[in-house]
Amino acid sequence: MNETNQTYSFPSDFWWGSAASGPQTEGAAKEDGRKPSIWDYWYSKQPECFHGEVGPEHTSNFYHMYKEDIQLMKKTGHNSFRTSIQWSRLIPDGKGTINEKAVQFYNDVINELIANDIEPIMNLYHFDMPMCMQEKGGWESREVVDAYVEYAKTCFELFGDRVKYWFTFNEPIVPVEASYLYNLHYPHIVDFKRGAQVAHNTIVAHAKAVAVYKKLNLNGRIGIILNLTPSYPRSKKEEDVQAAHIADLFFNRSFLDPVTKGVYPAGLIEILKERNLLPAVEEGDLEIIQSNPIDLLGVNYYQPRRVKAKEEQVPPEKPFMPEHLFDPYIKPDRKINPHRGWEICEEVIYDIMINIRDHYDNIPFFISENGMGVEGEEKFRNHEGYIEDDYRIEFIQEHLKWVHKGLQEGANCLGYHLWTFMDNWSWANAYKNRYGLVEVDLNRDFKRTIKKSGQWYKALTDNHGFTI
Ligand code: BG6
Repeated sequence: MNETNQTYSFPSDFWWGSAASGPQTEGAAKEDGRKPSIWDYWYSKQPECFHGEVGPEHTSNFYHMYKEDIQLMKKTGHNSFRTSIQWSRLIPDGKGTINEKAVQFYNDVINELIANDIEPIMNLYHFDMPMCMQEKGGWESREVVDAYVEYAKTCFELFGDRVKYWFTFNEPIVPVEASYLYNLHYPHIVDFKRGAQVAHNTIVAHAKAVAVYKKLNLNGRIGIILNLTPSYPRSKKEEDVQAAHIADLFFNRSFLDPVTKGVYPAGLIEILKERNLLPAVEEGDLEIIQSNPIDLLGVNYYQPRRVKAKEEQVPPEKPFMPEHLFDPYIKPDRKINPHRGWEICEEVIYDIMINIRDHYDNIPFFISENGMGVEGEEKFRNHEGYIEDDYRIEFIQEHLKWVHKGLQEGANCLGYHLWTFMDNWSWANAYKNRYGLVEVDLNRDFKRTIKKSGQWYKALTDNHGFTI
């Protein structure tokens, strides 16, 4: 150790672990009664839209390998793990009959985690609308909202005696953006007003699920996981500052404010009202949102948003996009992950922590995702046969330095979860970018091999911190 070394120590009860999701890891898409989600359906129609034409049924086989995986979680220093229940596995028709084989599977996973001293953290929805529910209108339909609330209640009743940390949704803004705005995911609709309806209905579904959970008195916490992309203006000019404020309203506060403070931001409502883009709000919606604030927040952080004032007006007849009100902007000298195109800016994680401390009642939260996707990691395999991903270790360390600073300054952060435990299937990108602490070899029966970052993560959590 030289004079400049510094130690970053974290609380002994800090949550260390990783996040994953059912649809991205379980595989066994057609086994034991599971029915298709929108991903299975879209893949069956357009496999060419998925990287390497690898579809959702090829996810990492956690369904059959969960015992081995939980041992690997121990070997990589996990004391907590977040995944999601698949609605289409637990209640294959969206509502009605519960699939007993799925109950068995999720019970087995939860019990196995607990038996290995790993806190199970469960999320209920990770972009994976059952196809039969999409056929009824997906999040645009109140029938689907009601079915989701029933599904949530079923999960709480079945598993809530052991699962003490629940999340209603992961990144609920992603289905709005990707499926209703930017034409990236099924059902490929481009219509802001319909997207706004999806957002509002999702928030109502979330609030109703929170209400149901509280009523069941299960002695746990419930919240939502949001991907926050703090917005920074390009300059101090008033118009750039205003542009950043608008981007923040659309992409962060649209969900963060209603789920924590119980109200939509007035500035956002004003912008939508002026343009006749407000969603339909049913009687009782605003009250249910107001009376069910979360008591735990998950923050997924990958990248900031840099913006400047719009240079050219967009003709009013063009279908509305939030980007009509500001321009995205990234300084050319910023650090970018070339595989994903996302800016890497570690100190933003600290800004998020301080923002929650100062503007959101210092609500308990944890970093529920943060990670680095890299294409072609095989080239970093060493002679012992494992991948030496020093770039991932550095990425985690650099973010953790700022998490440490936030904690020192009083942010109520309970833990850090990496995306992700093992390489997994990721939506249209499939297995292009690898994020895991553990490699998954698709050509060798999903063989798992701990990467250098996995060994390092174990030392990190054993020591409750690191010295650098
Ligand atoms: C998060 C999602 O937004 O980013 C994950 O919660 C996703 O589901 C992760 O896999 C990484 O994104 P991608 O597209 O690079 O795999």
